[in-house]
Amino acid sequence: MNDLKSYFTDDSIFFAPSLDAEHPIVSILDRGLEQYGVTKPVSDLPDSLWGPERYGLEHSSVYTRLEPHQQTEVLQKISRWNLSLSYFIEKSGHNYGAKMILLADRMEEKSLYCLFSAEEAIHLRLFRNFMRFTPDPSVDWHPMLDPLARVIRDGSKEACVLLIQVLLEGFGMGHYRSLMQDCRHPGLVQAFQKILRDEARHHGAGLVLAKEGVLKKGDRDECFEFTREFVGALQSANWVLRALEEVGGPISAEARRHHLEAVGYRQVLEKRLESLKEMLLKADREQLVHRLERDGVFEVKETG
Ligand SMILES: [Fe+2]
Ligand SMILES: [Fe+2]
Repeated sequence: MNDLKSYFTDDSIFFAPSLDAEHPIVSILDRGLEQYGVTKPVSDLPDSLWGPERYGLEHSSVYTRLEPHQQTEVLQKISRWNLSLSYFIEKSGHNYGAKMILLADRMEEKSLYCLFSAEEAIHLRLFRNFMRFTPDPSVDWHPMLDPLARVIRDGSKEACVLLIQVLLEGFGMGHYRSLMQDCRHPGLVQAFQKILRDEARHHGAGLVLAKEGVLKKGDRDECFEFTREFVGALQSANWVLRALEEVGGPISAEARRHHLEAVGYRQVLEKRLESLKEMLLKADREQLVHRLERDGVFEVKETG
């Protein structure tokens, strides 16, 4: 498996260069995607794809005191980062699928991963159809993408199944579902419905394979470290605060505390951490959860 690692650099996972629009491969891909019902980029994008209510911003004076055009700018930034994260995740799914096709030792498993990889290509295009920009890693990067790439590159088959399909795709389903519920564009709502159906199969297959597979000592340590890093990344990134600061200027420690309280940030984080724990327990990984709990990984860190 070590021979595979050179194919899983960050460049290959996230930044494969794009062909010019006129290249014949692009039109073959477009026709292929059309056959799966993927339509062209939409032309009627709203100002922002998610409104203030998604983040409880109507309760935050840091937000309500901004000028209307600044409020729009805040929402646009967060919408951009939401789409960028999905874009990078779906891109990484291409390499993940390739690795798992190679590592699968039974035919149906290989076929399933071929199918999953095709679905990640469809998901990427579905998101791209709502993006009028190309994500720039210097501004649109989420810290959880670092541990994600590391697992895809270094993880054993068993660790990959548990961390990517059970933990991340399971967690991603909850995330996509909530983005779908609050989304302002019916076309993107429809795209989320399709993506969620696919991700449910990716996650479901992960559960079956995780229960079959035995984690070796090295895998258990890897899963522990990854989950710890992933939860840390999740807690360190607060896009709403970042957008508010970028648009409206620095926020004092006190205003920050008020804001976090007003939008119920602690509760949101607690729910997310609980859902991660549930995902691991679904695959019967009590020992891993105990170890993570002992280490305080699932505790909400000071958010102020
Ligand atoms: Fe996907
Ligand atoms: Fe997936």
